[in-house]
Amino acid sequence: SEKITIAIDGYSSTGKSTLAKQIAKTLGYAYVDTGAMYRAVTLFAMQNGFIDEVELYKEELIKNLSKIQLRFQFNPDLGFAEMFLNDVNVEKQIRSLEVSNFVSQVAEVSEVRAMLVKQQQEMGKEKGVVMDGRDIGTVVFPDAELKIFMNARPDVRAQRRFDELSEKGQLVSYDRVLENVLQRDYIDTHREDSPLVKAEDAIEIDNSELSREEQFKKVLELVNNI
Ligand code: C5P
Repeated sequence: SEKITIAIDGYSSTGKSTLAKQIAKTLGYAYVDTGAMYRAVTLFAMQNGFIDEVELYKEELIKNLSKIQLRFQFNPDLGFAEMFLNDVNVEKQIRSLEVSNFVSQVAEVSEVRAMLVKQQQEMGKEKGVVMDGRDIGTVVFPDAELKIFMNARPDVRAQRRFDELSEKGQLVSYDRVLENVLQRDYIDTHREDSPLVKAEDAIEIDNSELSREEQFKKVLELVNNI
């Protein structure tokens, strides 16, 4: 059958990437984690002193955007693509709580968004892609054949994120993770440029009480009905 574009948007830590990877693998589609791109730009800003403890030096970052080269490289052992920033594998670093704490501020910068959206549109132009983020169904691919909008209760999301970080050996408190999840949601839904909002034609899934398997089946059914 003909290849389509699948846009998966939603709040932080709703399991978008897990679902997107599963769907992509099943359909033989490419998977693009757009959050990783915003995270890599944030890491770049931190490494170059455009972010200190409290502040993002927006103008400095904007001036240096052309020095950022992002690339996804498939890792056959992991079964998914890892993020490379200027030819360095930054997959681990971009998932840290330090990056999470600043990424939504970086994602507010229109110049950053314009640069990344352009790259995302390029990556998905042949269709046969599952892309997850915050603005895929609204801005990046408004014509996507299938749009999913994911949500779950904040406590469920924080617990999942906490478990994930703990598993990776990152010592963080549950309360700090919950705080970060809520803070990112707030910034993401209130920003001026491309705020997180459900596209009118997106199908909303609240997975607070759904298992991964149930959710996967549900979305696969939606794909098959197109
Ligand atoms: O998906 P993930 O949680 O890794 O995304 C990290 C952050 O990147 C989000 O909280 C949001 O601020 C930003 N983001 C965005 N637009 C996207 C993907 C991510 O603004 N398409």
